Amino acid sequence: MTSSAAESAALAVQELAAADRLIEIRRHLHRHPELSGEEYETTAYITSLLKQAGVKIIDYGLQTGVVAEIGGLSGGPVIALRADIDALPVQEETGLPYASLHPGKMHACGHDFHTAALLGAAYQLKERESSLKGTVRLLFQPAEEKAKGAQQVIAAGALEQVRAVIGMHNKPDLPVGTIGIKAGPLMAAADGFAVSIRGFGSHAAVPEAGIDPIVAASHIVTALQSVVSRNVSSLSSAVISVTQIHSGNSWNIIPETAVLEGTIRSFDEAVRSTVLRRFEEVVTGVAAALGAEAKVRWIGGPPPVINDALLARLGEETAAHLGYTPVVPVPSPAGEDFAFYQKAVPGLFVFTGTAGSREWHHPAFELDEAALPVGAGFYSALAVRVLEHYTAEGGDEHR
Ligand code: NI
Repeated sequence: MTSSAAESAALAVQELAAADRLIEIRRHLHRHPELSGEEYETTAYITSLLKQAGVKIIDYGLQTGVVAEIGGLSGGPVIALRADIDALPVQEETGLPYASLHPGKMHACGHDFHTAALLGAAYQLKERESSLKGTVRLLFQPAEEKAKGAQQVIAAGALEQVRAVIGMHNKPDLPVGTIGIKAGPLMAAADGFAVSIRGFGSHAAVPEAGIDPIVAASHIVTALQSVVSRNVSSLSSAVISVTQIHSGNSWNIIPETAVLEGTIRSFDEAVRSTVLRRFEEVVTGVAAALGAEAKVRWIGGPPPVINDALLARLGEETAAHLGYTPVVPVPSPAGEDFAFYQKAVPGLFVFTGTAGSREWHHPAFELDEAALPVGAGFYSALAVRVLEHYTAEGGDEHR
């Protein structure tokens, strides 16, 4: 064996050992899922792994979640890598040997994968800390599933000085070794609504003495179907789904009130504001036409995930350089609170192929752990690439 062959064999063994370690970490997290805002054990586990690796923890006063930093030994820009750490209220049905030990809770969106991949990146970056051209801040973010964690991290000040933020989500329909990278819109704004309709109760046999909120609600649901079809260009997209109707409690009483709930998804701020405005106009207008009164309460969700074009280009180059396959993914109508970071700084959110047979949030959701080193390698290599880019360019194009 030549010396360079021996070296590459040694490297391969190291890489294999590292991949095994990431699988171990991911399975530990998978066994111990915690819901949004309750990630105390997860926080302690991440903290202890980072400390063992000599990574500096920065205390921003978060209840759960961890912020850490690597590099910056000779100044330079700051960028952030983000992974979400929370699980879902789902009863696991995978039958895996490392299935959830917590009844009714499961990492059914693969945030255990993101956490393990970011820890892997932390190890890789720590090894080359002295040569980093700036600081990599690691954001292990809580409460993504409730769309609260990113805002908590921002409010705590952990995005200060950050020039760019990079995040990833596993993607079951992409093969291992592919990275879905797309400039512009990638995931939807997820707005929730609760509409309360006030009528006037009466005997069911004497409707003319009342104002029927059920009839008003029915007309509202039907009229809402025209918002996307008549107010949104055929080249844009949005969806309105009414998912709950509650009213009445007897067969012979016209009730006083009705409540509608549901969600609106859109990929573009202009479309979003048009749809939200038309939604309110249709709801209040139709209710008024029928003599009822309607009030809309918005349940704040994240804005759309819109990726920075420069970061997307650097991401594609990095993926190709690592021997992975960059692909242009189909955007997802799911919401993702990473979008809140992108309101503050340029960001790139990518999909890492994990070749699973079930979609996110399914009780039998699973993923191919061979994608762990891909996720870790991409996170760390892109961080290095972005820091080098900012340093070389003077880094002013984003400010
Ligand atoms: Ni998720």
